[in-house]
Amino acid sequence: MSDTPPAVSFDPARGLAVLATPRSRYALRIGADGSPRHLYWGAPEGFTELPAPHSPADSSFESEAAADELAPQSGARFGPAGLQVQFADGVRGAQWRFTGHTASGGELRIGLADRHYPLSATLCYRVHPGSDVIERWTELTHTGGPEDGPIGVDRLDSAAWTAPRLADPRLSHLVGGWNSEFQLRRDRLPVAETVLTSRRGITSHHAGPWLALDDGTATEEHGEVWSTALAWSGSWRITVHRDPVGRTTWTGGSGHEGLRRILRPGETLDTPVFAGLYSPAGFGAASRGWHDHIRARVLPEPDRDRPVLYNSWEATGFEVDQAAQCRLADLAAGLGAELFVLDDGWFGARTGDHAGLGDWTPRPAAFPHGLRPLADHVHGLGMAFGLWVEPEMVNRDSDLYRTHPDWVLHAPTRDATELRNQLMLDLGRPEVEAWVHNTLDGLVTDNAVDWLKWDANRPFTEAGRVGDPDPDRLWTDHTRAVYRIMDRLRADHPGLRIEACAGGGGRVDLGILARTDQAWTSDNTDPVDRIGIQHGFSQLFPAQTMAAWVTDSPNPATGRATPLRFRFHVAMAGALGLGGDLTRWSAEELTEAAELVARYQQIRPLIQRGHQHRLAGPGGVTAVHHAAHDGSEHAVLAWRPTTRFGHAGAPLPLPALDGDARYRDLDTGQEYSGAALRHHGLDLRLPAGDHASRLIRLTRVPRADGGATTPGAATAPGGCS
Ligand code: DGJ
Repeated sequence: MSDTPPAVSFDPARGLAVLATPRSRYALRIGADGSPRHLYWGAPEGFTELPAPHSPADSSFESEAAADELAPQSGARFGPAGLQVQFADGVRGAQWRFTGHTASGGELRIGLADRHYPLSATLCYRVHPGSDVIERWTELTHTGGPEDGPIGVDRLDSAAWTAPRLADPRLSHLVGGWNSEFQLRRDRLPVAETVLTSRRGITSHHAGPWLALDDGTATEEHGEVWSTALAWSGSWRITVHRDPVGRTTWTGGSGHEGLRRILRPGETLDTPVFAGLYSPAGFGAASRGWHDHIRARVLPEPDRDRPVLYNSWEATGFEVDQAAQCRLADLAAGLGAELFVLDDGWFGARTGDHAGLGDWTPRPAAFPHGLRPLADHVHGLGMAFGLWVEPEMVNRDSDLYRTHPDWVLHAPTRDATELRNQLMLDLGRPEVEAWVHNTLDGLVTDNAVDWLKWDANRPFTEAGRVGDPDPDRLWTDHTRAVYRIMDRLRADHPGLRIEACAGGGGRVDLGILARTDQAWTSDNTDPVDRIGIQHGFSQLFPAQTMAAWVTDSPNPATGRATPLRFRFHVAMAGALGLGGDLTRWSAEELTEAAELVARYQQIRPLIQRGHQHRLAGPGGVTAVHHAAHDGSEHAVLAWRPTTRFGHAGAPLPLPALDGDARYRDLDTGQEYSGAALRHHGLDLRLPAGDHASRLIRLTRVPRADGGATTPGAATAPGGCS
């Protein structure tokens, strides 16, 4: 008999639900007041029989009440509410009675109904074999008739999470801005409510709906980490509440404060998934858990190689025409690029960012015979053909706006805010969604497009619909329309790939990645800045989703000059692309670039599908180590942006290697003992000076007895064995 507990179990006698994953247990219990309350989330060995949680009703101390699985804004609850409703008679908040459960196939559904009003909720949980990720969401239904009137929903979160009591919890989260996305912050959590949010209608450059909590001592390799990620690409809010007696809870979902949905009789609102992952082994293991989950359950085609792409944006800006693009395509193909992407500027009157957006027909002066000749040329070179679009937007100076001025988000009594000279289409309107879908479908079909780079360069303003009884629904309707269009395009064009972009990395989340292949990480392509951006990105997202280009030096964003090899080595840690003006690269640079593209193609399976370990060595060296799942092959990309006297030669420990195995450097033939590489480290032999980098490929040496390693002498790095 296996002693592995069932993935999902519910004991009706005690109202106790337990979710079991390989390295965690999660438990909740229906409280005396009918509300599901949190019991446990952590290591299996810490989970024992736990007492029934107190509810505010049966405790005189608020701090004794167990946290709600979704706080319903009623009774003695004074923290952030995950559900805020107002009934037609003006009464606020739900008071639950438990109505039943289902538990099967890894999914648990807890049924709740208000004790007086026609409102029911289902709290949903899902676990998957082999994964520690717990997916959660909520469904809310108006179960009454017209006589009950509509119910106002001011907040409907997907889930609330609770960590065990930690003496001094630390919050890891991502902040940034345009050109500086995914900056990792690790901050002591104040005794307060901390709000992470986007009010922009897109996920945002400024904050991301991912966080991790630890006791302040976790490292890449050690310590307990509780992390969560929301699968939503519009506005969102997560409120983290650390109370004075040591409890930390966080409730999160789509939408920001001040939005109200109207729930009519018979209607159901459902929320995006808010997933959680407990890791007993540090931030690195937490990230690998997320990467595995995203590959196994989120990405549409995780096993397909992400192509080495060339994108013309940094080379040509808006000055695109057929001859120049064909020339760039020739050069890109010569370097080994597998996909050529024509960026902004190919359509309508789009000679700058002031006009033409929305008019998706090729600009005759630039493409006199349409895009097909360029697409055919690119295909003839053996590359796939990609096209930039920004289908949610319009310039005021465009035929689309002149024909349909009412299609944009607007309020007649308010000034329309233009950002980058553009306005936002209201995709929540069915006719606008249909137009966008038909336009993209036509472009893909007519031009043999293999890849869409789907951009979105501004947030929502003047959002809401004057006179609509449910004016705020457009915030969710827009995002769902984007999802639907992407899903339809992929279904109707099985070869089509989509790259998510929003002025760089402004819309990267588990929702958009469920229908795209990779995301444009940042418009900042400076390799030194990119090391930090990529570090933050990797906390949640796997390398195969991280588009990374090698561009010109000095970098247009920072003015910093860096060697071509360094630029490549940084970009090779993701889905490699080329984005420079290849017509200005010297013959030597083109030769070196072709060699480095070929090197990337060799390690691509490891980068795109292996396990990633983030490393930091002495002297300002950082690195990523990508290992095949069976441990047989390894690629290490190490970077030292600036030299520090006396530190250049320090070896870099590789703790993910097997201490009992031996490894051979595929380029030098040198053999190492795994134990020495783990503990003493690998001599990186970085060249002198700033912007030093190396790629090291290691293979596990087969043992003479047919196992993984050959016993016998081998060189220990740095003379250590
Ligand atoms: C923003 C994107 O991030 C860039 O890569 C480029 O596509 C421009 N938009 C084009 O306008």
